[in-house]
Amino acid sequence: MGDIRIGIIGTGVIAGTHAGILQQNNDVTLSSVFDIQKARAEKFAAEFGMQALSGVEDVIADSDAVYITVPNKFHAEMTLKTLSHGKHVFCEKPFALNLNDARKIVDAVEKEEVIYQLGFSRRLAPVYKKMKELITSGKLTPKSFNIKMNRGELQVPSWTSDSKVTGGFLFESTLHLIDMVRYLFGEVKKITAVGSKSVYPCVDDFSMIFEMENGIHGVFSSSAHTTWIFPFERVEIYGDHASIVSDEMEAVTYCMDLNTPVEKLTFSTLPIDERWGFTQENELFVDRLLGRDSGENALVATHLDGYKNVELMENIYEEVGLGR
Ligand SMILES: NC(=O)c1ccc[n+]([C@@H]2O[C@H](COP(=O)([O-])OP(=O)(O)OC[C@H]3O[C@@H](n4cnc5c(N)ncnc54)[C@H](O)[C@@H]3O)[C@@H](O)[C@H]2O)c1
Repeated sequence: MGDIRIGIIGTGVIAGTHAGILQQNNDVTLSSVFDIQKARAEKFAAEFGMQALSGVEDVIADSDAVYITVPNKFHAEMTLKTLSHGKHVFCEKPFALNLNDARKIVDAVEKEEVIYQLGFSRRLAPVYKKMKELITSGKLTPKSFNIKMNRGELQVPSWTSDSKVTGGFLFESTLHLIDMVRYLFGEVKKITAVGSKSVYPCVDDFSMIFEMENGIHGVFSSSAHTTWIFPFERVEIYGDHASIVSDEMEAVTYCMDLNTPVEKLTFSTLPIDERWGFTQENELFVDRLLGRDSGENALVATHLDGYKNVELMENIYEEVGLGR
């Protein structure tokens, strides 16, 4: 039983992933949970040795830090509530669904001087960390990129096709790689985008061109209805006769000059929580709460990243001009 009491609001799929990891951490005590589905909360609490309480405020009062793992449209409200009690927050992506809420969260994090972390787990996934390392070490200087981030369907969970709940399809998994564009290439200068409502009632197909402040540019496509055929997620980075290519979060392949061997790192033998960066993001959150820095704290997504990403999302939806 560790010193840090962590509570969880929303006991669905991703909450189970986080709790399973936090349960192994000696610095953490998993305290209490709340879910609007009482039976779900009770089952979850029993599984992880927690208490199921009857409201969000109860969990906040009982914890030093709160995980917000409810559907997207509740993130801002619950984050603000937790911050108003001066408690630390780990919130699943997205940060917020509009800039107004995003600004309020930034102000509250800065006023309360608490730790805030956003669930962009891919930043810590070995594939993407390797890509970033190859860039920051100067082994490849990116000139342009080609990214795709598809979803097979918007059916599971059922709320993923309802843009009133998600904020729009882009706020689902696509947002991970929109954040990745900033993580790998710096700040965005301009996005040009077209989209359509092809299958679902929300805008579910996007073709975008990114122009970065440092002159790098790239294309990014995202469709919500492809079936789960591989690869549904792929990043290709092009340098001076050099490229780095990802295969989902399984492997990264790179070649740094003409007439040189191709190198490939495969991570498929790692447990999935590590391969997808969930283990590492939870460990880093606890480290940050304890004031520790293994040298990787700067990799996590903060409230400022959250704000910038919401700003980009609003720009894209405005460009497409079909609502969400
Ligand atoms: N980082 C990642 O890779 C990743 C992966 C999956 C999900 N997510 C994000 O995590 C969040 C949850 O996704 P999920 O797949 O676990 O969903 P889920 O539907 O499995 O779980 C959501 C839970 O929240 C509960 N809930 C709904 N409204 C509530 C409210 N007002 N108060 C309290 N509880 C409420 C539901 O009853 C459900 O148990 C989403 O925002 C999603 O985008 C992130």
